[in-house]
Amino acid sequence: GRRFGDGGDMRYSEHVKQDRLWDRLMDLAQIGATAKGGVNRQALTQEDGTARRMLADWALSRGFSIFQDEIGNLFVRRSGQDDTLPPVTTGSHLDTQPTGGRFDGAYGVMAGFEALEALEDAGALTKHPVEVVAWTNEEGARFPPSCMGSGVYTGRYSLEWAQAIRDPEGMSVGEALVSVMARTEDARPRDFGAPLAAYIEAHIEQGPVLVTEGETIGVVTSVQSQNLFEIEIFGEEAHAGTTPRANRSDAVLAAVEVIARLEKEALDDADAMRFTVGRFIAKPGAPNTVPSHVTFTIDLRHPENAEIERMSDLIGRLPATVAGARRCRAQVKRLSDSPVTPFTPEIVDLIDECRLALGLPGRRMPSGAGHDAMYIPPLAPTGMIFVPCVDGISHNEAEDALPEDLAAGARVLADCLAELAG
Ligand code: GLV
Ligand code: MN
Ligand code: MN
Ligand code: MN
Repeated sequence: GRRFGDGGDMRYSEHVKQDRLWDRLMDLAQIGATAKGGVNRQALTQEDGTARRMLADWALSRGFSIFQDEIGNLFVRRSGQDDTLPPVTTGSHLDTQPTGGRFDGAYGVMAGFEALEALEDAGALTKHPVEVVAWTNEEGARFPPSCMGSGVYTGRYSLEWAQAIRDPEGMSVGEALVSVMARTEDARPRDFGAPLAAYIEAHIEQGPVLVTEGETIGVVTSVQSQNLFEIEIFGEEAHAGTTPRANRSDAVLAAVEVIARLEKEALDDADAMRFTVGRFIAKPGAPNTVPSHVTFTIDLRHPENAEIERMSDLIGRLPATVAGARRCRAQVKRLSDSPVTPFTPEIVDLIDECRLALGLPGRRMPSGAGHDAMYIPPLAPTGMIFVPCVDGISHNEAEDALPEDLAAGARVLADCLAELAG
């Protein structure tokens, strides 16, 4: 039968403290707080460094140890009886969107930390160490693509490739990492790909399913396919007042036509395809010069790989044709391509059992958003726990969640981690 630690019937979830979790989340939300009540704490900024330091200090004050790898993933470890065993790991991210909320990412890190504290308060003796990780640059808002830290950790991206990526101001990931990692230089080094016994990530749902259905816990079965394209259109500068239409190579008009044509192709009856142009940069950016260069991104998601491949094929071909007809040139790069990721059935079942044992209403569901957890299955059995967010709003400063829902997710997480850590 199930053994919740050495306390007989006692569950470690009983030691989860709702107020402590909420207070820590509110402390974190101060770092990069925006006037509208959200958070702007983009990856590898000084704010990100401050949040990471705060986590490290909380960890050290509880006697946990800290590790970081070369892409800046920061691990907090509570020792097990045998620290040579691979850790049971949880976590998420501390970076945010430019118009981010207080919970996206921060919740998964703090729920994980709360679970570690619950084990500590209970004096739990687990066989495996239990860890919480703050993955670097999950959002990919400043430095696309998203899930960079977990991608490098699991070998999907090379460190060198990631370090060379630049933000719109020209600073590279490698340069930005130096000062941010220096803030936690007391952390011990950690190797990429170091094995994990299991990985479970807690996150707000970021969509309307749980809140609409009145459920508290989402037991996540899979993550839909997530892809990022960067498209450049090259035209030529010309005078806005004198240049006849036939002589123009207008990169913006070409880009706009490419986007409109692709968006039409992406439409489907079920509204299953998610097509987003979230970044659009036109240069030189002078109102009276015909624009010569456009860079834009397409974030493309769907629950079926075949549909993604159909659209990807078109994204590869159509820009050159459309741009050519407008005397421009196009170049398409695929920056990330994560197929549909099913989570590990044993972990999905465990999460469902733990939430049932706690009497919490919930359901199984796929994830519409991307998460670091989607890169972990090749390395370790993986799953995710969702909790509701108010009105399903996320990637918005108005993002909100209820303290009792957040605590419920942390309880499920604590019991799952304890079970897995033996
Ligand atoms: C998460 O931030 C995502 O882009 O899905
Ligand atoms: Mn997130
Ligand atoms: Mn996000
Ligand atoms: Mn995300």
